[in-house]
Amino acid sequence: MNRNWLELVFPAAMALLVVTIGVFILSMTGLLHEATPSLANDVLEPTEAPLAVDSATANAPLPPGADPAAIAAGDALFKGNCAQCHAINDVVVGPALAGLAKRRPESWLIPWIKNSSKVVASGDEYAVKIFNQYQKQQMPSFQLSDDEIRQILLYVRSQDAFAGTAGPGLVVVD
Ligand code: HEC
Repeated sequence: MNRNWLELVFPAAMALLVVTIGVFILSMTGLLHEATPSLANDVLEPTEAPLAVDSATANAPLPPGADPAAIAAGDALFKGNCAQCHAINDVVVGPALAGLAKRRPESWLIPWIKNSSKVVASGDEYAVKIFNQYQKQQMPSFQLSDDEIRQILLYVRSQDAFAGTAGPGLVVVD
């Protein structure tokens, strides 16, 4: 390896490095841009888990004093009734439930879980959209009490809290 060789190769290697870093930075900004939900888009789409989690979009923490026994009961109810179609972070048959507490209030979720087709039939905008988005596949109705449903919802929120991610969600623009 003589000096002339180094004088030639070193600048070339530096140039290559600069170009590689440039391309990397460009592709990162491209990706981040894609992950930003467009507010103008009123199509319901399960989005990929966000690349960067903004603290403002972190999930609602569990209510203070959330009862671990209630979470365990919710876990069991979820496994027995919901897990064949739902997971927290992945779309199975139905949507991923991560971040659910931020999308829908309990006052919507309880009637939905008891009888989703009734909510769809009522013309509720969100219900109709999600029903159409999931190929009009009907979720079964459940003979669960309000308290049992609250336990399931608490369990779903507890999973969010552990994962610390906002999770995929649906953006509805009224
Ligand atoms: C047989 C499959 C199936 C089962 C079992 C099921 N779901 Fe669903 N669920 C769906 C589908 C499909 C959707 C999408 C809406 C539609 O098509 O009606 C959905 C939607 C939902 C939504 C709205 C999600 C969102 O992102 O807004 C919630 C909440 C929900 N289900 C909760 C539950 C709970 C809780 C249970 C158990 C008690 C359950 N589901 C059991 C299929 C199912």
